[in-house]
Amino acid sequence: MSQSIYPVSAEWRDRAYVNAAQYADMYARSISDPDSFWRDQAQRIDWMTPFTAVKQTSFDAGDFGIKWFADGGLNIAANCLDRHLAERGDVPAILWAGDDPSESRTITYRELYEEVCRFANLLKGQGVRKGDRVTIYMPMIPEAAMAMLACARIGAIHSVVFGGFSPDSLAGRITDCDSTIVITADEGLRGGKKIPLKANVDEALQQCTCVGRVIVVKRTGGAVDMTQGRDHWYHELRDAASADCPAEAVGAEDPLFILYTSGSTGKPKGVLHTTGGYLVWAAMTHHYVFDYRPGDIYWCAADIGWVTGHSYIVYGPLANGATTVMFEGVPNYPDFSRFWQVVDQFKVSTFYAAPTALRALMREGDAWVEKTSRASLRILGSVGEPINPEAWEWYHRVVGDGRCPIMDTWWQTETGGHMITPLPGAIDQKPGSATKPFFGVLPQIVDADGKVLEGACEGNLVIADSWPGQMRTVWGDHERFFQTYFTTYPGKYFTGDGCRRDEDGYYWITGRVDDVINVSGHRMGTAEIESALVAHAKVAEAAVVGMPHDIKGQGIYAYVTLNANEEGDEALRKELVQWVRHEIGPIATPDVIQFAPALPKTRSGKIMRRILRKIAEDAVDQLGDTSTLADPSVVDNLVANRQKVVA
Ligand code: PRX
Repeated sequence: MSQSIYPVSAEWRDRAYVNAAQYADMYARSISDPDSFWRDQAQRIDWMTPFTAVKQTSFDAGDFGIKWFADGGLNIAANCLDRHLAERGDVPAILWAGDDPSESRTITYRELYEEVCRFANLLKGQGVRKGDRVTIYMPMIPEAAMAMLACARIGAIHSVVFGGFSPDSLAGRITDCDSTIVITADEGLRGGKKIPLKANVDEALQQCTCVGRVIVVKRTGGAVDMTQGRDHWYHELRDAASADCPAEAVGAEDPLFILYTSGSTGKPKGVLHTTGGYLVWAAMTHHYVFDYRPGDIYWCAADIGWVTGHSYIVYGPLANGATTVMFEGVPNYPDFSRFWQVVDQFKVSTFYAAPTALRALMREGDAWVEKTSRASLRILGSVGEPINPEAWEWYHRVVGDGRCPIMDTWWQTETGGHMITPLPGAIDQKPGSATKPFFGVLPQIVDADGKVLEGACEGNLVIADSWPGQMRTVWGDHERFFQTYFTTYPGKYFTGDGCRRDEDGYYWITGRVDDVINVSGHRMGTAEIESALVAHAKVAEAAVVGMPHDIKGQGIYAYVTLNANEEGDEALRKELVQWVRHEIGPIATPDVIQFAPALPKTRSGKIMRRILRKIAEDAVDQLGDTSTLADPSVVDNLVANRQKVVA
């Protein structure tokens, strides 16, 4: 663990919205008097109906409930678009960089406003009403953001599904929230490769009865099947739609979106975010963490299929009137300079990406970075997984030329926005630490029994009180929401992450402590991959664990027991890898498949994952006590046949 400290520079201390003393004051007030603190902060957005109540929350079983600004009314699209028109109508809202470097688009606030109004009218014309669920399965093109904002404009609930998910995964997410309509594109384009989005939707819809309409945006012009009566071309409907669509006033606690994410058990959960608190949180964190100023060019290189894209490509930046960059491509296409070329092309001042991409680029050498200018960069950000100090130092020294503070932001789909993060003018950075809590966030570290630990310590990370951006429920299963997050440590929100706090009060996230793994910044439940594997006719049983991986952070290590008389050879290994890709999507591709005659189980039949993790880590001298296993000799076979991967 690195001990180096990168202090806030004098320049940043003087120019930022918040310096160290202000951070201390504001933080203290946010905790001691949340009602007055949040009443003030909520003024950063426009309310159609002013709220009177601020914080009405309890994490306790008896009166469990989470409401913020509950009697207020607003519209998010109006906050992201309409209110900027007078001053910023001709300023770019979206700068889009295509997969092919010769393609780009500039969309001003006025243009975006008009397109969103048309899109909203188009949806209304297809029967979409307030509260209906709309699934968005799109590539990274401006129409994806337009679709989200169009839903928000009419009070429909969007559910964006990452374009890399398989037809099966898509079908599960459509059915769970009972979407009536899917918005997609003919094909996506990433790294020069086409992704058959419409064909995937067609396959998914064979399993879904709830969808009556599909809207298809033309991206590549590739051939697609259009089902008469069900499928419509976006451009045809759009041309016929009016550009006048009043924004619907919705309640602060009305749902804005559902986003599916993996947990340790069962199928992915539909994380539900509501309107008022979420927007205050997204806008405020974007403003302070990136010290956003009018004129900045801000680029979050995530995909809108993840929460990072929701909060920090679309809602946070647009609520603040920022110019947000949308990137269709990948970091290594056409070559390893692509990120930095886009930075130069648009004069990007703030760049926010996942460590996995940085590690992959770091490995290719500094020359790819150094041949670009990057003089416009002012702040760098990191999100999605722990950033190892080596990658942090490289990001700082090579990408930022030693000039740009790095905001290592810890948060989750569930939290809506940043929770533990530096602020550029206030908090000295330590490479590898997400540093200190944002305003209103009360982190605690607890031991296995729930005892709150003080001072320097290590344990599990909980959040002791509510914040406005918090998820409100699991779609269709409020009990699961309560059970998953508030019963492990009663009265507190359990994050699922392990964490260390050092003597300076800095937080160091150590990774998930549950059966969730983080592969290239993508969150996955090991149970999902296991159930995909056992769905294969030749597989009897499977256990999946994470293993350390130089580029991806964690890789996927699968132990597979075959049915009797099946042989685990190279061909079957390849077949199973393809199988999982097809069942879930390429992000779930196993790095290792080890055929195992049996899995280590306790006498009551529970798989001892601790042992499987150690073998996957190649830490076979740390297996610990194996005497409680039903058959300890199973372990010898696993150890002897363990697989090693080279990243
Ligand atoms: O383990 C933490 C890790 O990612 C998890 C949340 O994943 P997801 O809901 O997909 O959201 C990703 C985008 C916010 C967390 O439980 N994580 C996220 N950011 C960091 C991180 N771990 C360490 N440092 C971070 N900055």
